[in-house]
Amino acid sequence: MCGIIGYIGEKEANDILISGLEKLEYRGYDSAGVAIAHESQIKINKVKGRVENLKSITIIGNIGIAHTRWATHGKPCQENAHPFVDETNNFAIVHNGIIENYLELKEELSREGVSFSSNTDSEIIVHLIAKNYHDNLKEAVLKTIKKLAGAYAFCVIKKDASEIIGARNGSPLVVGIADSENFLASDVSALIEHTKKVVYLNDFQIAELKKDSCKVYNFDGVEENYEIKEINWTLEKAQKQGYKHFMLKEIFEQPDIIRETMKVPIAIEKNFSRIIMVACGTASYAGLIGKYLIEKLAKIPVTYEIASEFRYKEPLISKEDLVVAISQSGETADTLAAIRLAKEKGAKTLGIINVIDSTIAREVDKVIYTRAGPEIGVASTKAFLSQLMIIYKLAFNLSDQEELLEYIDDIILKIKSILSRSEEIKELAHNYYLSHNFLYIGRNLSFPLALEGALKLKEISYIHAEAYPAGELKHGPIALVSEEMPTLAICPKDAVYPKTFSNIEEIKAREGKVISIATEGDEDIKKISDEVFYVPEVKEIFYPLICCIPLQLFAYHIADFKECDIDKPRNLAKSVTVE
Ligand code: AGP
Ligand code: GLU
Repeated sequence: MCGIIGYIGEKEANDILISGLEKLEYRGYDSAGVAIAHESQIKINKVKGRVENLKSITIIGNIGIAHTRWATHGKPCQENAHPFVDETNNFAIVHNGIIENYLELKEELSREGVSFSSNTDSEIIVHLIAKNYHDNLKEAVLKTIKKLAGAYAFCVIKKDASEIIGARNGSPLVVGIADSENFLASDVSALIEHTKKVVYLNDFQIAELKKDSCKVYNFDGVEENYEIKEINWTLEKAQKQGYKHFMLKEIFEQPDIIRETMKVPIAIEKNFSRIIMVACGTASYAGLIGKYLIEKLAKIPVTYEIASEFRYKEPLISKEDLVVAISQSGETADTLAAIRLAKEKGAKTLGIINVIDSTIAREVDKVIYTRAGPEIGVASTKAFLSQLMIIYKLAFNLSDQEELLEYIDDIILKIKSILSRSEEIKELAHNYYLSHNFLYIGRNLSFPLALEGALKLKEISYIHAEAYPAGELKHGPIALVSEEMPTLAICPKDAVYPKTFSNIEEIKAREGKVISIATEGDEDIKKISDEVFYVPEVKEIFYPLICCIPLQLFAYHIADFKECDIDKPRNLAKSVTVE
């Protein structure tokens, strides 16, 4: 995914670039680097790991580019950190995306005698630019992009040039315009402390930034007009406020988020005959809950699609479809591609998005913002709950039921009461944190929750967890059950309670350990479970809203016992802008 930033102006670039990278670190934190051009020399500072590690060195100069990486090609080490320079140290580039034909291009360049310093796909860009450069950097970029296949946003500087060139094809890139200085970045958050004036580049555009000017061209080199947008939101500075991790703080913020999200108006025209939910990861589980709920309440057919599958399977989409993209970041490459495909086929599009003005938010026909505020923990918690709230509102709205509001105060109180029992979940977590594997099961609305609970555990504690519809267990996964493989069963008192109850019996009969999430007052489940965490009783359809809380806390406490890097788990990034 990577975050990129470029600066050209009169100030020292180093600190501006590093503080910009800190805002972009949610996009990746495998390595970081800065390149600054000064007195006809490019100087580089690259480190493995966090942006923080760049701070021990300061490079002088007013033109620079920088990068925080999420590795796709080549392991996360210093040699593979961006920026990359060509063999003569004349040019430096940073890249976000994947150059799909890099092997072929690398072979070609190697045959011409170029030697490479990294195993990345990105490095070929800088060698191609060096090869294609005659006396104009923009022309060299235009020539280079003709050779590239795949998705990219990249920025390039030359050691003695007075410009930065940025190119966009499939990965985000924004220009920031200010007095006697200009910026390029993966998103507005990296620029907003310097300027509110931005230009969102479109795919197939390049920007040529000088200290006092910005020109935009298409990939044929023809100059294009652009619109300067005024950003009217500010960056809320997220702080831990005494919590050990952002994730814990975000879990505890959820009662307020529900109240905030309840205020969001949902005026939706019912001019479609089917809904298609597209999303990735946690957001996709919110979509799956949406499928169960909207079909149940509004009797409208809903299909649920993982965006990365949807985009390549030649899906049947018609003008009668409403394609709903759910995304915290609004930048997820697969979800964005799914929306573009839906638009191409003439479907209506709706985004349920958290980040204001993000790419998906800008591209859908209609956007509903989830108002979860900045979510810093890589594992999504409050954004998930806010997506669920919007989906509940949507389901009620589509079924012309007016009653959601009357339940909300009660649900908020019940969530607060669960949060106040975090220590109880911590004890549970202590009993299980040394397990290597977990099964999560649930039926009906509790099945997507099982998926989400298992994902939370995997992401932050690195414990292998598999989620299944409880009834599916007997078709294979029950073979895994043993004393060493605990099962977390989501079994509230709903219509399918007796069915899930029987599945728990089946696990117990095979000596599996079971932790049940059940409804207060259910004494029977105590008799067959090793442990029970009780949640307050709510109307059947609302169990996902309250059962997700113990699942989040369980994963959190297990990861904390294991001393994992909870807010920045290994191998992950908050925003996934590559396929
Ligand atoms: C959530 O805990 C995950 N880190 C991940 O699955 C995430 O939900 C997914 O990448 C989708 O992101 P988005 O909501 O920003 O589109
Ligand atoms: N492919 C590049 C690398 O691995 C950039 C990755 C990205 O944008 O996520 O360094």
